[in-house]
Amino acid sequence: MNDIIKEYFQKQNNLEIMPDATVLGRGGDPGCGDYIELYLKIENDVILKATAMVAGCPYAIATTSAFTEMITGKSLDDGMMISGDQVAKYLEGLPEEKIHCSLMGPEALRNAAHNYIMARICTPMGVQV
Ligand code: FES
Repeated sequence: MNDIIKEYFQKQNNLEIMPDATVLGRGGDPGCGDYIELYLKIENDVILKATAMVAGCPYAIATTSAFTEMITGKSLDDGMMISGDQVAKYLEGLPEEKIHCSLMGPEALRNAAHNYIMARICTPMGVQV
């Protein structure tokens, strides 16, 4: 494990529940134990704040923490352009067998964006036209 990954793993920045989140997105698979919940505070389609809860290995913790930093301040569209590869580069590389740990953040963001859009176009009375 390189020093930057160790640092993210130890600090665990932004790894907490956000009670007033605008939207939540999930990534990974709770069935196999690697799983994240990503909480976003969004205003005008911009991610003002991102936090997450992680169940997974130290690399999952480090990559998810880094991902919350990478997407903060970005539009949802720009945030969704960030790939697992970019997360790995941000952390100066991941071992091959840990690449999948970096994919949960981007997956959770796509899921959150879907939930965000659905919440905006749907009302309790049905879909707006
Ligand atoms: Fe599965 Fe890291 S989350 S090995």
